[in-house]
Amino acid sequence: MSLFKLSPYSLIEKKGKEPIVAITSYDYISAKLAEEAGFDFILIGDSASMVMLGHKDTYSIRMEEMLLFCKAVSKGAPNTIRIGDMPFLSYQVSKENAILNAGRFVKEGRCHGVKVEGGEEVAEIVSAIVKVGIPVLAHIGLTPQRSMELGGLKVQGKTIDEAQKLLKDAIVLQEAGAFGIIIECVPAELAKIITEKVNIPTIGIGAGPYTDGQILVFHDVVGLYPEIRLKFVKTYFNGYEAFKKALKEYIKDCKNRSFPSEKESFKISKDVLKQIKNGVKC
Ligand code: KIV
Repeated sequence: MSLFKLSPYSLIEKKGKEPIVAITSYDYISAKLAEEAGFDFILIGDSASMVMLGHKDTYSIRMEEMLLFCKAVSKGAPNTIRIGDMPFLSYQVSKENAILNAGRFVKEGRCHGVKVEGGEEVAEIVSAIVKVGIPVLAHIGLTPQRSMELGGLKVQGKTIDEAQKLLKDAIVLQEAGAFGIIIECVPAELAKIITEKVNIPTIGIGAGPYTDGQILVFHDVVGLYPEIRLKFVKTYFNGYEAFKKALKEYIKDCKNRSFPSEKESFKISKDVLKQIKNGVKC
């Protein structure tokens, strides 16, 4: 499937018309499910660091690992807009390095765009990536790649200084050419003001009901990541317990020899079987 058949810029047309709904995905099957369910776009998020690789934060994941996840998602969801999340230090070092790494998400990961975290401080990098023709999704508020600086994973924009900075960040990122902005963990009323101030769509996660769209992590939606339960997540299925139950039943069936049964076994003709039992001549 050609990349140019889908454009992240088409999401801008949905602003003010219909909510944009997105989800993260990291592998072939979850991408296939996401495409069949009908999401507006898929983010191959660096949350893969935690939910796929078992790290405790998003700092450790590498470019090569992100690209592997992108390749799998591109195969599972060939007809959905796919945005690759640039991992920590893959875009902050220099504009040249950021462009080369963003290019790898397109060339190797077959993504339609990339996401970077940060406000005004990454605006020049956003602009440089956009100038080579790669659409960029910005990400402000709680930016996990800055969680050491932000003092952990906590709500952002509660003071007047923080709120003003977020508002300015959104405007500067729009001017830099971002096609949309993820707003994470910000009071709902502030996310509403930001949404009204920009012409590009805002996609909220823990940012209340007034943003132009919503995004959640796949594993949170289907209940597959029991380690962290966040207030702003809605879980629609207890996948972890459901999968564990199925796995336990499989063990039980094998232990009591009810699986495999005749139904799951292959047959051989009586004649061949007799010859085998009588000793096969080589
Ligand atoms: O990495 C990720 O999954 C994200 C979303 C939570 C927006 O950045």
